Amino acid sequence: MLELVDLHVRYGHVHALNGVSLSVPAGGIYAVLGANGAGKTTLLRSIIGLAGQNSTIRLDGRAIGGLPAFARARLGIALVPEGRRLFPEFSVGENLRIGALQRKDRIEVERDIERVVSIFPVLRERYHQRASTLSGGEGQMVAIGRALMARPKILLLDEPSMGLMPKAVSQIFRIIRSIPSGEVTVLLVEQNARKALAIADRVAVLELGRVVANGAVAELREDPRIKAAYLGGQVDNAEG
Ligand SMILES: Nc1ncnc2c1ncn2[C@@H]1O[C@H](COP(=O)(O)OP(=O)(O)OP(=O)(O)O)[C@@H](O)[C@H]1O
Ligand SMILES: [Mg+2]
Repeated sequence: MLELVDLHVRYGHVHALNGVSLSVPAGGIYAVLGANGAGKTTLLRSIIGLAGQNSTIRLDGRAIGGLPAFARARLGIALVPEGRRLFPEFSVGENLRIGALQRKDRIEVERDIERVVSIFPVLRERYHQRASTLSGGEGQMVAIGRALMARPKILLLDEPSMGLMPKAVSQIFRIIRSIPSGEVTVLLVEQNARKALAIADRVAVLELGRVVANGAVAELREDPRIKAAYLGGQVDNAEG
C-alpha cells in the first residue's frame, strides 16, 4: 500500500537517505530498525512530506511524492513523532481532538474519542488533566490516540518506546500490536529491536541511510545483520 522508490535526502554533506526503497503491504506492522543517525526519522519525514520533496512515493498506487504534508495527511498518513510533541498546557481531550482538526464528521469524531479512551482507559481518567502532568507512558498513549483520531490508513510511529520505563514500554508495544486492521497499517521505527521484532510482521534494517536487510520477520530473525547490529545476539520473542 505504501511504496518508496530510491529515496534520497541530503542535509548539506550528510546523505541521510541514500537510495531507500521499501514496499509496505497493507495491514500488519512493518518495523524499521537502525542505530542513532541511521536515517529513521528522515525516512518518516519524507513519507509525511517534510523531507526529500518529489521523491517517488506511492500510497495505494497513487503518486504522492509531489504533495505537501497537509495533503498527505488528508490521504491518511499520520505520524506519532519522536518525543511525542504534545501540547503541554492543553488537556488530554484537547490533545486528542487536535488529531481530528481536518475532519468535519463531528459525530464520528465523538465516537472515535470514545474508541480511543476505551483503547487507553487511563486516558478517560486523565481526560481533563493537562498533558504536562502525564507520565511518559500516558503521554505516548495520547500521542498515539491523537494520530488515530485522524483515522489514518498508515500510522507512522517514531521510537514510541523512547524514554519510557520498562513496564510502560511493554504496555505501549501491546497496544501497538492491537492497532493493525483491514484499515490501518503500522510503520514502526525503533531502536528497541527485540521488542519491535516481537510484534512486527516485516522488518527493514537501516544503516547510514541504506536498507541493508528487509523481509518477513519470520525469515530474518536469525539474520546476522539483524542479530549482530541491533540485538547483541538476543533474538528472543519472550514477552509481547
Ligand atoms: N535537520 C538536519 N540538518 C542536518 N543534518 C541532519 C538533520 N536531520 C538529520 N540530520 C542528519 O541525518 C542523519 C539521519 O538523521 P535521522 O534523524 O534521520 O536519524 P535517526 O535514525 O532518526 O536517529 P535517532 O535514532 O537518533 O533518532 C544523521 O546523520 C543526522 O545527523
Ligand atoms: Mg530519529
